[in-house]
Amino acid sequence: MPGTVEWLPYAPGTIIDLPVRGSASPIRSVTRQVAFDDAWDAERRDKVAELFDSMAAEWSATRDSEERRASIIDALDRGSITGDRVIELGAGSGLGTAHLTSRYSNVVALDLSMEMLRAAPAGMSLKVRGDSASLPFPDGCADVLTLVNMLLFPTEVDRVLAQRGCLVWINTQAHETPIHLPAEDVVAALPGSWTAVASRAGSGSWCVARRAADGRS
Ligand SMILES: C[S@@+](CC[C@H](N)C(=O)[O-])C[C@H]1O[C@@H](n2cnc3c(N)ncnc32)[C@H](O)[C@@H]1O
Repeated sequence: MPGTVEWLPYAPGTIIDLPVRGSASPIRSVTRQVAFDDAWDAERRDKVAELFDSMAAEWSATRDSEERRASIIDALDRGSITGDRVIELGAGSGLGTAHLTSRYSNVVALDLSMEMLRAAPAGMSLKVRGDSASLPFPDGCADVLTLVNMLLFPTEVDRVLAQRGCLVWINTQAHETPIHLPAEDVVAALPGSWTAVASRAGSGSWCVARRAADGRS
């Protein structure tokens, strides 16, 4: 059964007209290949790690803004998220992690790029260097998996997320985020049957996906 997405009203002040930016990025096609074709190998992993290592020093200074933060805050406010065991995949320099640790006591931030993890504030959460294609976590251990501007690895999300857990998918520049999938594609990429609520806030978009009541994976 295909997944379903319920769109909530956009948050007040949502920015609809975004300058063309990320939709032209080469990482857009990588995002789709990873989500739908399992197109990830050691060579691609190393290239992606190198790319983000090279951007780590300036990441927080150039990517943090009230407009971008709005989609993270709105997803956490309106996504009906439950549970306290939170893992953020592709946490980068911690721009999303700060919002998670202010609400949840058990947050782990994972990233492939050592330089990104080094750039994240010390003591905010446990930091783990790892690859989301083969997560160093047991089956069903997370109530919440959060991905902010991060590649979707459907098989590992499905494995690590508890049966009643939820995936929080955020693109802080909506469809102009380089690493972007529409909510409909997020639920379509995941194994089994999923439902999601979705909306937009600030410059971003978000969806919170859960397994459908009759979902099998
Ligand atoms: C576009 S950045 C977003 C960082 C942060 N979430 C933010 O919004 O500021 C993508 C991040 O995902 C990480 N990443 C990419 N592929 C990954 C993988 N396979 N496993 C873990 N992290 C990965 C990169 O190193 C980078 O830090």
